[in-house]
Amino acid sequence: MAGLNKVSVDDINVKGKHVLVRCDFNVPLKDGVITNDNRIQAALPTIKKLIADGGKVVLCSHLGKPKNGPEDKFSLAPVAKRLAELVDTKVIFAKDDNVVGENAKKAVAEMKDGEIVLLENTRFRGAEETKNGEAFSKELADLVNDEVFVMDAFGSAHRAHASTAGVTKFVKETAVGYLMQKEIQYLGNAVEVPVRPFVAILGGAKVADKLNVISNLIEKCDTLIIGGGMAYTFLKAKGYEVGTSLVDDEKVAYCKDMMDKAAAAGKQLLLPIDTTIAKSFPDPIDAEIEVAVVDAD
Ligand code: 3PG
Repeated sequence: MAGLNKVSVDDINVKGKHVLVRCDFNVPLKDGVITNDNRIQAALPTIKKLIADGGKVVLCSHLGKPKNGPEDKFSLAPVAKRLAELVDTKVIFAKDDNVVGENAKKAVAEMKDGEIVLLENTRFRGAEETKNGEAFSKELADLVNDEVFVMDAFGSAHRAHASTAGVTKFVKETAVGYLMQKEIQYLGNAVEVPVRPFVAILGGAKVADKLNVISNLIEKCDTLIIGGGMAYTFLKAKGYEVGTSLVDDEKVAYCKDMMDKAAAAGKQLLLPIDTTIAKSFPDPIDAEIEVAVVDAD
């Protein structure tokens, strides 16, 4: 594997220092209960390493897309609870609508080496977070005495937000965590020195977030397989019926361009050949309903 040309948590000494760690704790919730904790599990190696090294570990993340500032349903409180079970260390949840307000400052001031504080949802600061506001970035850095910032939110690394990018300008040391490291190494190697045939599989709901990735992958890989929610925008671009499935209407033309690009380059772009249909979405979401599997066309 090619070496990582980034400073990692193995290269820094955090003993006695405050370390702000940006995680991606954007977990699915149902009635306040986490339905899949993979993202919390994925953050554990970095968190455990920083605790073991005697850092004062201050975690932050976004959760969902709160539109009007703080909202209880987007609180990171359930994440704090689950994290405490997984990490076997007390996790202080700094409930604070301002994210870095008085409650957060108090919790951080009382920390001892090897302890964990989880801040409230960074998107409670609205556009200050999502537009990479300098004042909020600085406040985040101030909270950890401008000491150390560790980026481990792989799922959010494509966003230039205050808590992912802006804060780095104001801290003395920055590093990537193990999750970032692993993903950069796998992705970097897979894309730069691929073993052929090189097959890439993309899923998830959002086509818009992956525009450049799709275009670049078509150039590099032999076969691109698209599944998940985003497949319906491609299926619609092929002229298929997609009912009320998730579709990004603004990207239908882009999907068509990508299919043309793949065809012109002699690459395979594969879409689902069948799909599960129902008369309506279940309500509640886990109710049993009648479904059928039909060809995608
Ligand atoms: C994700 O789930 O895709 C990441 O956490 C990023 O979330 P976002 O699309 O709300 O920025």
